[in-house]
Amino acid sequence: RRGAAAETDLAGRRVLVTAGGTREDIDPVRFLGNRSSGRQGYALAATAAARGAKVVLASANVELPDPAGVEVVRVGSAREMREAVLAEREGVDAVVMAAAVADFRPATSAEGKIKKGEDQPATIALTENPDILAELTHNRVNGHQVIVGFAAETDHVLEHGRAKLARKGCDLLVVNQVGEGRAFGSQDNQAVALGGDGSAVEIPYGPKEDLADRVWDLVGDRLAVV
Ligand code: CTP
Ligand code: CA
Repeated sequence: RRGAAAETDLAGRRVLVTAGGTREDIDPVRFLGNRSSGRQGYALAATAAARGAKVVLASANVELPDPAGVEVVRVGSAREMREAVLAEREGVDAVVMAAAVADFRPATSAEGKIKKGEDQPATIALTENPDILAELTHNRVNGHQVIVGFAAETDHVLEHGRAKLARKGCDLLVVNQVGEGRAFGSQDNQAVALGGDGSAVEIPYGPKEDLADRVWDLVGDRLAVV
C-alpha cells in the first residue's frame, strides 16, 4: 500500500512506544490488571522499525515475541512504566503511548500473601497512579516531539475523545471503540485519530499493523513540518 520511498521514511528517527497493560500488586501473588494483549503496541513498534526508525518498546506484561530490531524494556507496574518512559523520552522524536496504564493501584501492597479469614479486607483501598502521558505533554523536553495517546471508549467516542485529547495535551489521540468483542484481544482494530489541530482521520477496520502504519503516517506528517 505504501510506495517504495515510504518504506524507510522513519530512517534517522528515534521513537518510544509503550505496550501492554500494567499490573499493580495487591500482595506477592495477586495484582490488579487489565485485558490489554500488547498487540497494538507491538505492531506499532514493528512497523516503525520496518520503516527505518530506531525503536524502544516499553512493554508491560506482554506475552509476545520481541519485534525484530526493537529494543524491549520490560516493566510491570505503572510506576515502573513511568520510570522507563522518563528515562527514554529525551532523545526521541515521538512517543506513542499504546499501553493500558492502570489509573489506580492498591494504596498498600501486602508483604506476605493475604490470608482468607485473617486480614479479609472488605475493600482494597486505592490510590491514583501518575498520568505518564500528561506528564510528557505538560513538561515537554523538545518542541518537535510528537506525543500520541491511545484511548478506548465504549460510547460517545468522538465527544469523549475530544475532551480527553484536550485534557491530555497530546498531539494525536487514537480513539478505539470497544465493546461487543472489539479491540481487546482481537486481531483487528478500528479507530479515529484526533489531532490537537482539530483534525480527525478515520482509520478503517483492519489489522493492527495497518492501523500502526496509519499512525506512523500521521506522526511522520507532523515531524516533517518542523
Ligand atoms: N495514560 C498514562 N498514564 C496513566 C493513564 C493513562 O500515560 N496513568 C495514557 C495511556 O497510555 C493512553 C492515554 O493516557 O495513551 C489515555 O488513557 P485513558 O485511560 O484513555 O485516559 P484516562 O485519562 O485515564 O481516562 P479514563 O478515565 O477514560 O480512563
Ligand atoms: Ca485510564
